[in-house]
Amino acid sequence: MRAASLKGTNYLVRMENSWIEYAEKFTSDESDVLRELREHCYAHFADKSMLSGFVQGRILSMFSRMIRPKIVLEIGTYLGYSALCFAEGLADGGKVITLDIQEDSNRVARSFVERTVYKDRIEFHLGNAVEIIPTLPETFDLVFIDADKPNYSNYYNLVFDKVRPGGFIIADNVLWSGRVLDADQDGNTKALHEFNRMVLTDDRVSNVLLPIRDGLMVVCKP
Ligand SMILES: C[S@@+](CC[C@H](N)C(=O)[O-])C[C@H]1O[C@@H](n2cnc3c(N)ncnc32)[C@H](O)[C@@H]1O
Repeated sequence: MRAASLKGTNYLVRMENSWIEYAEKFTSDESDVLRELREHCYAHFADKSMLSGFVQGRILSMFSRMIRPKIVLEIGTYLGYSALCFAEGLADGGKVITLDIQEDSNRVARSFVERTVYKDRIEFHLGNAVEIIPTLPETFDLVFIDADKPNYSNYYNLVFDKVRPGGFIIADNVLWSGRVLDADQDGNTKALHEFNRMVLTDDRVSNVLLPIRDGLMVVCKP
């Protein structure tokens, strides 16, 4: 078990929340490459909160180990942290397909993934996810929505028929630092609140909104 200080640094929560430190301390460690990637992000990238933190990364990895997906679709690669977490639970011969529009962060993601045993099992696509998703022929066992917030509902609708029966859709940031509770909401907040409402009223699925980090919406397509 490593020191909590190496695991910690969750930019979305106040670190005086000692139960979060406790949860970090009593959670299995990540790989050296994942830790290095987080530290690289915190040292060199302005958008530190975009990367899934340590505990969320371990949760995504655990979901993947529970589901044993053959194909994961990730919408929003950033530095490849969550893609590497999902890769840890892939079924034999499985792969993570990850989409992003930003070249600079994608270069960093590829360089870190290249150093891992998952280098041939993570497929990068650079471009607008709204345009890429309809071109993908695969059926997905698990979809992770973690890109531009105004498109969350679009992403859900675009992937829905491509998710296998019994598959899952997980969406990050659905609490938007609590702003979904505000009466006066900006565009991103409205989009996320609308997404949450759409999922809840979709009678084709069951869902749970986990109040973990910035909120994870977990949807099962029966
Ligand atoms: C929150 S970050 C992803 C973080 C990553 N999933 C993780 O947990 O480490 C969101 C990413 O979505 C990407 N993005 C935003 N709009 C996009 C679009 N229309 N198509 C593809 N990617 C997009 C951004 O470039 C950014 O890298």
